[in-house]
Amino acid sequence: MKTFQPFVVKNLELKNRVVFPPMDLYCAKTDGNVTDEHFVHYVSRAAGGTGLIIMEATAVLPNGRISDNCLGIWEDAQVTGLSRVAQGCRRYGAKVALQLNHAGRKCTAGAQDPEYTVAPSPIAFDETYRKPREISTQEMREVVEAFREGARRADAAGFDAIEIHGAHGYLISEFLSPLTNKRTDEYGGNTENRTRFLREVLEAVHSVWPEEKAVLLRVSATDHLPDGMQVDEMVEMVRIVRDLVDVVHVSSGGVVLARIDTFPGYQAALSETIRTRCQVPTIAVGLIKTLDVAEEILGNGRADLVALGRELFRNPFWVLQNAFARGVDMDTMEVPTIYREAFLDKLR
Ligand SMILES: Cc1cc2nc3c(=O)[nH]c(=O)nc-3n(C[C@H](O)[C@H](O)[C@H](O)COP(=O)(O)O)c2cc1C
Repeated sequence: MKTFQPFVVKNLELKNRVVFPPMDLYCAKTDGNVTDEHFVHYVSRAAGGTGLIIMEATAVLPNGRISDNCLGIWEDAQVTGLSRVAQGCRRYGAKVALQLNHAGRKCTAGAQDPEYTVAPSPIAFDETYRKPREISTQEMREVVEAFREGARRADAAGFDAIEIHGAHGYLISEFLSPLTNKRTDEYGGNTENRTRFLREVLEAVHSVWPEEKAVLLRVSATDHLPDGMQVDEMVEMVRIVRDLVDVVHVSSGGVVLARIDTFPGYQAALSETIRTRCQVPTIAVGLIKTLDVAEEILGNGRADLVALGRELFRNPFWVLQNAFARGVDMDTMEVPTIYREAFLDKLR
């Protein structure tokens, strides 16, 4: 079955096609450091057979956190905790990526300071969020630099890959979407201008990230609104940065409030469009819960990898359980013998 077949892109030699997508646990220490909860959570999914684990949104600057309890990678002291989680997952044969993020106008951390939050344009997400300041070009340089430093630290921590968070209405996707970017300088207006900041972040990251290691990009391929991002424009944007990206992780929404019609695999068509038209490997995500849905997406060429978020929250052993249930030879599953034997009811 395709789900259990290996996939290789650059150094990422994945033992199967199942990805644990980045999902914020909101349990980091207020200094951005890893806790034991992170270790248990991620290493459990690795022990359950997941091929690629992408650790949650990790802020490159303190005001790039979504909340006061998000992970950070803005200083060297944060490397130790992240490294422990990455090494723990790798022990079980999983590859591990770290998602680098700046929350932009969706930052709720440091709430006492009204000047704390920045965005391409001074428009609040809604009435429950602070109104952001328009980020200056000097501050944009600093954010780009922070992504570069974040990538350098992620490499030092031993991550196999990084994912740049360009989705869900955080800073980078605020630059990409016409709904949140009303700038009149070279970073606003047409498609190329709105992609400029993303390209600068990717170029900075590549200046320190080892050539052989993969770089993933997560995007919101549509805003689900007529005036917002459409998949055709996202195809253009991905083409602009194609030379700097190895895998595109195709999500949608989160930039503005919009009604989203959801159903199993509801974003797979967006993944297929980007995969086909940009000639890039993709990850499909969104209400993928069963092996049949995963097989449909992979078998019909809608994606190279499938991400299961809430399903892997519910069941860390999804990969091993489904492989066993469908008669996959457990000896081919790269997990410790003692786990495999449990499926075969072996007693020692
Ligand atoms: C609690 C929670 C936290 C999330 N945190 C992140 C995150 O840190 N970064 C990100 O790109 N997406 C995040 N997401 C989105 C998920 O990665 C995923 O795209 C979404 O849950 C849909 O997949 P699913 O239907 O398989 O759960 C989060 C989702 C949830 C429910």
